[in-house]
Amino acid sequence: MQIETLTNFIINRQSLFSNQMEEGASIEKDLIWSLLKLANYAPSHRRTQPWRFRVFHEESKNIFFTDLANLYKETTKIELYDENKYKKIANKSTSISTVIAICMKRCSKESVPVFEEEYAVACAVQNILLGMKPLGIIGYWSTPKMAFTSEMKAYLELNKEDKCMGFLQLGLPKQGLPEIPQKENDPIELKVTWH
Ligand SMILES: Cc1cc2nc3c(=O)[nH]c(=O)nc-3n(C[C@H](O)[C@H](O)[C@H](O)COP(=O)(O)O)c2cc1C
Repeated sequence: MQIETLTNFIINRQSLFSNQMEEGASIEKDLIWSLLKLANYAPSHRRTQPWRFRVFHEESKNIFFTDLANLYKETTKIELYDENKYKKIANKSTSISTVIAICMKRCSKESVPVFEEEYAVACAVQNILLGMKPLGIIGYWSTPKMAFTSEMKAYLELNKEDKCMGFLQLGLPKQGLPEIPQKENDPIELKVTWH
């Protein structure tokens, strides 16, 4: 592959959100598998391969959002509870086709530090994010506070030493969705110091 092709491919990745997704549209299961297979090519120290995914698709996705909304209700102090937020979470199932809970499975030998396991999972997520556009899938990585609660850990049946690192919220683009201009990042020259 030419570097220009790879560069364009990376530059063209973008997060798109639930209001840009077609309501009621469902991503084909094969395409979800194609994305998940990309994740499996991520690097990991000592090849611990700590990425794990819980996929909520079709009916289980509807249940997931109902459960997520209820979890919000149960874990939020009354004075902070917002009924609109509850409804917003529950309604996400109308446009989001598939939720993938991003999980880190701690290596049983604990041969590398936890942060390295998390970095490896983030690399796996980037592989997924890069694969979305060529498959016609849109979405984003979401990290609501609830993802990091003990209640969510129990819900996802994770061990104590494992971690939920958020959710991939995936869908199909609304019919006629225009090209959304790429957000410009600050120039790399501002972020590099040469020695
Ligand atoms: C670790 C991580 C956590 C994120 N969490 C959220 C989130 O909770 N909610 C959200 O709307 N977007 C979240 N995003 C997506 C960002 O909003 C998105 O990457 C940002 O707007 C830049 O747009 P781009 O991905 O198109 O470059 C997250 C992204 C990363 C990498």
